[in-house]
Amino acid sequence: MAKRVLVTGGTGYIGSHTTVELLEAGYEVVIVDNLSNSERFVLKGIQKITGKRVPFHKVDCCSLSRLRAVFKQYEFDAVIHFAASKAVGESVEKPLLYYRNNLTSLMNILTLMRETGVPNLVFSSSCTVYGQAEKLPVSEQTPRREATSPYGNTKHMCEDIIRDSVAAYPEIRSIALRYFNPIGAHPSAEIGELPRGVPNNLIPFVTQTAAGIRPVLSVFGDDYNTPDGSCIRDYINVVDLAKAHVVAVNRMTGDKMKERYEIFNIGTGRGVSTLEVVRTFEKVNHLKLNYKIVGRRAGDIEAVWADPTYANEELGWKACKSLDETLQSAWNWQKHLDGKK
Ligand code: UD1
Repeated sequence: MAKRVLVTGGTGYIGSHTTVELLEAGYEVVIVDNLSNSERFVLKGIQKITGKRVPFHKVDCCSLSRLRAVFKQYEFDAVIHFAASKAVGESVEKPLLYYRNNLTSLMNILTLMRETGVPNLVFSSSCTVYGQAEKLPVSEQTPRREATSPYGNTKHMCEDIIRDSVAAYPEIRSIALRYFNPIGAHPSAEIGELPRGVPNNLIPFVTQTAAGIRPVLSVFGDDYNTPDGSCIRDYINVVDLAKAHVVAVNRMTGDKMKERYEIFNIGTGRGVSTLEVVRTFEKVNHLKLNYKIVGRRAGDIEAVWADPTYANEELGWKACKSLDETLQSAWNWQKHLDGKK
């Protein structure tokens, strides 16, 4: 019988791509999402790609009773918990919203996993936990640094809640995946990133500028201590990232974990500057992007990229897709977006 995975935040950007990869790997998926930062029509995109209709429950993971009803309706083999608020700037303005949302939802999930006997949790963590590391690239052994935003702090705290829960409750285990910067879209252009309002993240801003929705892209700073002066990140294709979740679920449900709480960096191992992203986007999509250099963005770190060796060797997972094809997929998604709603 097919194993069943609960995906919280399954209509979101990473959640929808992971749902597709899980379905294609033979898993059954049930999605819960409160649609606070995603759209119901994403379900149609998932169905178009996979030919499968995914059960969907419009539920806020902060509601223990409503979430309990979902845990009682199905038997799950694993939970992948994406549902969370993720805008760094907003978290500074609304810290209580972020702490309540991100911490309560995780605690509800852990509570219900114990209550209903679901042993396996994959958690969406972030490279934000490393802050500006002294030594690059960062491995899982790199010490975490104090977070610079409430958002980042919730990732720290959620990791700690999981660590302590796994230590106390033998019936649960978890894999935390620390994502670097996920970008791009499914090659079918049926699903992708759907920012609401003015995008905070680089790639949706780039594609919206190319599409004429935004007049100009601001590149935040060219005076960093990097080869071209702009910040460096590890941009990972969202489909590669989605596949890492399938591997993590396989590992947990196949009893292959070495410890009951494991952490993996999910990145490419390659640092790319903001200006390199802009130039590559222009080159592979044969267009010119209107951009200007402006001052640094508060809270940005200078450079971070992953040492993904542990994930490569232990999970047998590797980021495969090139930056070129990833930036093509992002533009292709932007071009097809209008017809989607
Ligand atoms: C941050 C967090 C990440 C989090 C993500 C969620 C860190 C290291 N990363 O990613 O954990 O999941 O937010 O939103 O804390 N840029 C521009 N112009 C723009 C937008 C961005 O130049 O209009 C630059 C930024 O200065 C940065 C790079 O592009 O150097 C990437 O920015 P962004 O996409 O916002 O991601 P992070 O801030 O790296």
